[in-house]
Amino acid sequence: MNSLLLKDINKTFGQGSATVTALNHINFKAKAGELTLIIGPSGSGKSTLLTILGGLQTPTQGQVFLQGQSLTELTNKQREKLRLEQIGFVLQAYNLVPYLRVRDQFALVDQLTQHHLAPAAFQQITNKLGISDLLNQFPNELSGGQTQRVALARALYPDPAIILADESTAALDSQRVLVVGQLLQDLAHSENKAIVAVTHDERLKQFADHIYELIDGHLTPVY
Ligand SMILES: Nc1ncnc2c1ncn2[C@@H]1O[C@H](COP(=O)(O)OP(=O)(O)O)[C@@H](O)[C@H]1O
Ligand SMILES: [Mg+2]
Repeated sequence: MNSLLLKDINKTFGQGSATVTALNHINFKAKAGELTLIIGPSGSGKSTLLTILGGLQTPTQGQVFLQGQSLTELTNKQREKLRLEQIGFVLQAYNLVPYLRVRDQFALVDQLTQHHLAPAAFQQITNKLGISDLLNQFPNELSGGQTQRVALARALYPDPAIILADESTAALDSQRVLVVGQLLQDLAHSENKAIVAVTHDERLKQFADHIYELIDGHLTPVY
């Protein structure tokens, strides 16, 4: 089964002569155990595609399947539950809570769901990402790259089956990009996660099992 499946997705914004077609007849699939990369320039539709994949936005046309379940057939509440239990989002806006220390960003997840990483696995991830020493900081005390790594750890903490990452290496130096790329690949290959990363960062290509190119809302498989 595909973890994620898009069938003939269109997404337009606005009306009449002001209509913007962000996604144009998109077909896409992502499987557990694979890191799938969608590469495209700014404005090509990457964030729109990723948020539709995760059920945060609805398409204008077409169908979205998550773990074989059609999202359009669910109520908002069911969709929310599925999202909470199955998907780890690493959004461009990082979605960290500004008034909580880093450690409490994770404690917040504990309150929402019983399902999260055991302490040893969590520690392994914070070590790999180099954020173990940042747990007492507030988000506004972190650099862009540190914020990005905390946001990634936060998305991984509930141990979701599907991970959706939006430009999650944009603020990182080359060394860190390799660490994050390797981590995403490891999570896919050894933890059987379905990972979709949208990016304009060519440095991630070496870690991908599949690559698509998104240009002006048109998606083409590269390999
Ligand atoms: N909420 C929105 N309202 C109007 N236009 C939007 C909206 N979201 C995205 N767009 C437009 O859709 C296109 C794709 O945007 P986006 O998905 O953010 O691209 P990317 O993430 O690749 O930079 C752009 O032309 C953008 O201006
Ligand atoms: Mg974007």
